[in-house]
Amino acid sequence: MGQVPLMKVLGIETSCDETAAAVVEGGRRVLSNIVFTQVAKHRPYGGIVPEVACRCHVEELPGIMDHAMEAAKTAWEDLDAVAATYGPGLASSLLVGLTAAKAVAFRLGIPLLGVNHIEAHLYSLFLGDGARYLEKREPLVVLMVSGGHTALFRVDGIGRYEQLGQTLDDAAGEALDKGAKLLGLGYPGGPEIEKAAAGGDPEFVRFPRGLEQRGSHGQIRGMDVDSCFSFSGLKTALLYYLRDHPDAVTGPRFRDVVASYQEAVFEALVDRLERAIEKTGVRVAGCVGGVSRNKRLRLMMERMAERQGVALLLAPLEYCTDNAAMVAAVAGAPGSLVARGGLDLDVDPDLVVGSV
Ligand code: KG4
Ligand code: ZN
Repeated sequence: MGQVPLMKVLGIETSCDETAAAVVEGGRRVLSNIVFTQVAKHRPYGGIVPEVACRCHVEELPGIMDHAMEAAKTAWEDLDAVAATYGPGLASSLLVGLTAAKAVAFRLGIPLLGVNHIEAHLYSLFLGDGARYLEKREPLVVLMVSGGHTALFRVDGIGRYEQLGQTLDDAAGEALDKGAKLLGLGYPGGPEIEKAAAGGDPEFVRFPRGLEQRGSHGQIRGMDVDSCFSFSGLKTALLYYLRDHPDAVTGPRFRDVVASYQEAVFEALVDRLERAIEKTGVRVAGCVGGVSRNKRLRLMMERMAERQGVALLLAPLEYCTDNAAMVAAVAGAPGSLVARGGLDLDVDPDLVVGSV
């Protein structure tokens, strides 16, 4: 189970629409981190088209891997292992990265490691200032917010995760992407909304925050509903708002409408993290994933951490969105959930991170 600290690991990430490769030494030292983002290829469709993503990975990955090796000044023979994301994600896209990793492992006679994409995102916290918390062995509560996932975890160390809650419908990134579409903004929605909302009044419209009421005692798949998220009502509220205010998109308050929508998504995120802090008594909070690149969200997290008197860890900006540095790093970290695979290791599009 990857307990031995590995020296140099080549990591490959193709779970969604980023084609990425990186070399990381000793689970921490990033020697290279190359990311090719396919955004321009998917933009005409207003969202990710799995077939386009898969073909693009096939075309781009060999060059990206070479680039990562060159940038790391590492010879192929000096690699100790090769790691690829094997789930969760788009099946055909995952297959491209995993197959490439198998070829490298077979050719060089080195171990093949399968990485869980969610665990990789969680580990991105430790590629920055968070590294010191690994040594301190302090528990953390971490919010993972990306295009495909929105979930809360208690992290008691590498490989020791308990999922406290998750979204019951859309992921936060998905809510931003779909909201952006309704607002006539481009793809991907998160960064477009961030730009359009700059300087806007986030209190101009009060959009609903899903599962706002505290103290619900229901359970879903073993998780407290109180720690879960819901964004589908928010999206519908935006749809109705735009129907009832036909000049909202072209009018002078557009910026305020966008800022208000963004605020509703972020308040739900910050609120659930705050509840988790109060419930668990854990004193270190973290946030990872593509949406955590957002400056407004980072500021709101900082304010919440100050209010709660807890330490806050945010993934460094370059490791928020999908990348292979977090894949190679977690693969080389003792205790991580990596699957030490043979050539029969298969992709698992629905892979979860559970308690171990
Ligand atoms: O982690 P990620 O790269 O991929 C997944 O694992 O899904 O996250 C992609 C998501 C997209 O929904 C995108 O809109 C969002 O992250 N995102 C942002 C920002 N940059 C990317 N959301 C808000 N603000 C940003 N600056
Ligand atoms: Zn991701």
